[in-house]
Amino acid sequence: MNKKELLQCYDYLAPVLDYTGPIINSGKGCYVYDIDGNKYLDFNCGQFCAIFGHSDEKAAEMIYRTAKNLMHLNTNTINDEMLITAKKIHDICPEMNGRSIILSTGSEANECALRYAKNMSGNKPGIISFDCGYHGLTHGTEGYSISRKWVKPQVKNSFAVAAPPISENNSKTDIMPYVKEFEGIVKENKDIIAAALFEPIVSSGGMYLPPKEYWREIRRICDENEIYLIFDECQTGFARTGSWFYYQQIDCIPDMLVCAKSIGLGLPVSMVIFNGNTIPKDKFTMHHFSSHQNEPFAAALISYAIDEIKANNILRKIQEDGQYLLKRLEELSRKYMTFMRSPHGIGLMCGFYLNIDGMDRFQAEEQSERFCKEALRNNIIIQCTNYGRTVRLLPGYCITRDEIDFFMEALERTLDAFI
Ligand SMILES: Cc1ncc(COP(=O)(O)O)c(C=O)c1O
Repeated sequence: MNKKELLQCYDYLAPVLDYTGPIINSGKGCYVYDIDGNKYLDFNCGQFCAIFGHSDEKAAEMIYRTAKNLMHLNTNTINDEMLITAKKIHDICPEMNGRSIILSTGSEANECALRYAKNMSGNKPGIISFDCGYHGLTHGTEGYSISRKWVKPQVKNSFAVAAPPISENNSKTDIMPYVKEFEGIVKENKDIIAAALFEPIVSSGGMYLPPKEYWREIRRICDENEIYLIFDECQTGFARTGSWFYYQQIDCIPDMLVCAKSIGLGLPVSMVIFNGNTIPKDKFTMHHFSSHQNEPFAAALISYAIDEIKANNILRKIQEDGQYLLKRLEELSRKYMTFMRSPHGIGLMCGFYLNIDGMDRFQAEEQSERFCKEALRNNIIIQCTNYGRTVRLLPGYCITRDEIDFFMEALERTLDAFI
């Protein structure tokens, strides 16, 4: 098909998004290529999933081998690779004494965790979560996310609390008002709240990193009021922040941990890890059953990724590269202070704020769209979130220092052109 014919095919796509970017036709490492031969450094490894780069050859071969051996199984049956993978998952988060189920998307895994939390709590219907959190777009997960008020019909017994934000100058936020708000709602609704569902780093809602002390208090309040703590580590999990899971850096062990994105290396794989110390086996009084549960290919991908991360000391690489990236972002923000504010983050999960002073939500979104388009013209792919306020950077774990340097130069050109 020639380009003109290809462009006409846009008419056959559901217009659920504004697909105005280049038409991509291949990817290698941290780069993707469009049909005109332009090369872009994809600084978000797709949607934060292709952690070993686009079209990682070893992963592609492994998928081929697994698919030729066993593509799919009935849901009641487990293959040997899945058993080995469950043990490997257990061993990377020993504090959880974890028991896992592998599913497909982040939303699906959150639904599974919520379903069990409600059932195990004796069918309590309530869930408390951040007002700025994001847990997916199924009816339930959206009902506990930033866009909850637009969900029709409204999800009942959905309680929202504010997350402690980071301030513009990166100084510490006083967490106590936020802790008190959480404690107040939990105490008042103790009889109906089954679980608290939180991203330990609030990504889509603004890249907030609530401090350790906040999580210590949240854990205490959940314990005292007998509600489950679910961490949605779809983004923060699986090495992204320099530890296997982010909870390991904040000393707050959840009762259920949800992970997705990176664990599939770009394919739809998610999981729930149930804490074997706080949830005894006899609490599982309900079955979970879905077509793509514990699939052989998904188990093989996770198993392969765990081995690669260990063999190549990738946790250390992420810590060091993350510090380097943050240092470079801080330097740049000193030069472009009025526009690029408060770079922050941990490991390869960083962000900064765009100046939206005096703008309403629509103006801020329009500005951030223009900013991302300018970045594309400079051959880098970035994404804005939080209604145009925050730029998120979650590159692949395979990113090199040269690529970070290339990115920083392109970002500087983007800022120059934009301002
Ligand atoms: C923290 C978090 N939870 C859940 C989800 C939903 O995952 P999915 O889009 O795979 O359903 C996302 C997706 O961006 C996410 O960032």
